[in-house]
Amino acid sequence: YKVTWDAVSAERGGYPHFMLKEIHEQPKAVRDTLRGRVAEDLSGVTLDEIGFDEAFTKSVDRIHIIACGTSWHAGLVGKAVIEQYARIPVDVEIASEYRYRNPIYTPNTLAIVISQSGETADTLAAMREMQSKGVRVLAITNVVGSSAAREADDVIVTWAGPEIAVASTKAYTTQITALYLLAIHFAHVRGNLNDAGVHELLEALAALPQLAEQVLDTAPQLKSFARRYVEATDTFFIGRGIDYAVALEGALKLKEISYIHAEAYAAGELKHGTLALITDGVPVIGIATQPDLYEKTVSNIVEVKARGAFVLGMTWVGNDDLEKTVDEVIYLPKTLPALAPIAAVIPLQLLAYYAAVARGNDVDKPRNLAKSVTVE
Ligand code: G6P
Repeated sequence: YKVTWDAVSAERGGYPHFMLKEIHEQPKAVRDTLRGRVAEDLSGVTLDEIGFDEAFTKSVDRIHIIACGTSWHAGLVGKAVIEQYARIPVDVEIASEYRYRNPIYTPNTLAIVISQSGETADTLAAMREMQSKGVRVLAITNVVGSSAAREADDVIVTWAGPEIAVASTKAYTTQITALYLLAIHFAHVRGNLNDAGVHELLEALAALPQLAEQVLDTAPQLKSFARRYVEATDTFFIGRGIDYAVALEGALKLKEISYIHAEAYAAGELKHGTLALITDGVPVIGIATQPDLYEKTVSNIVEVKARGAFVLGMTWVGNDDLEKTVDEVIYLPKTLPALAPIAAVIPLQLLAYYAAVARGNDVDKPRNLAKSVTVE
C-alpha cells in the first residue's frame, strides 16, 4: 500500500490537472457570480457595487471594452449582448492596440476593462490612459484587491475563485455572466426591455449553472474526438455571430495548450481564402447554436465537408438535422440564443484539454505562456 496523496493533488481536488478542475467548477462559478445580483422574483438586476445612478445609466451613448487574451474574447460576447439588448454601440479592443492610438470618446463614453487577474500591464495602461481623459472606467475582474479593482471607478467582481491553470476557463464564463447582468441592467433602466423581457432573460440566466452542469456530461465524447488531434497539424473553428466569438475562444484554448495551429473563422468568410486550407481529414468544429443563422452556417459546413474535412458540429438538443451534414454532433441544452456561449464553450475547453493530454503536454503550464502578463 502506497500513499500517493500530496498537497498539490489535494489542491486539485482529485483532478489530474487544475484546468480540468476549473472546467468542472464552472457551474458553481457562474452561480456565485449571479448570487445576490438577480432579484429573487426575477424583476431586475441589482448591481449595488457599481455607482451608476439612473441618469448615468441612461446617458451612456458608447461603450469601449478593453482587454487581452481570453478576457478580450469575453468582451466580444459582451458587445453582442449589450448591442442586442441595450442598443448601445460597443467597440471591443485589444489593450495593447488601444493604448497606442488616439481613440474617439463622446462625453458619455463608458469604458469597461475585463481582466481576470486585474494586473495585466497593457490593460492597466489602457485604463489609466482613459481615466486621464476623464472617461469613467468599470472593471470586471476576478481579484478583489487587484490594481484594476483598486483603480477603476466601478468594479464588478467575478466570483470564479482562484484560477490556477494558465489557460483561462471559469474566469471566461463568469466574465460573460457579468456582462449579461450589465446588458440586462442597461436595457431595463433605459427602457429597451420591459418587465416581461427582463423576467424571461433572468429566468434563463438563473438556469445557466444547471446548463453548464449538463454540458460537462459531453466530456467522454470530446475525449474520444480529441484523439484526432494527436496527429493533426491544423484545425478550424467556424461559426457566425456570437458563435464566431466562441469559435475564437475555442481556437485559442486549443493553441495555448495543445500547440496545434488552430484558426477561428467567421463561417461566411471561409470562401475568401481559407477554404484552400481545408483538405482531407482536417478537423473542423462547426458551431451552430443560433437559430436565425443556422441555415447559413450549415451551408458553410457543407462547403468544408465537400473538401474532405472531418466535422464536429455543435447545436441545440433536438436539432437532429445537423447529423445529416456532419460526422459527429455535440448537443447543447436549449437556452436563449444570446446565452448559448456559456454552454458552447465548455465542450471546446474539454476538447483542448483532452487534446493536450493526448499529446503529452504540460496542461496547466503551457510553454512560453504566463498566467498574468505584468510586463509590456
Ligand atoms: C495571459 C493569460 C490569458 C489571459 C490574458 C489576460 O495571456 O495566459 O489566459 O486571458 O493574460 O489576462 P487577464 O488577467 O487580464 O484577464
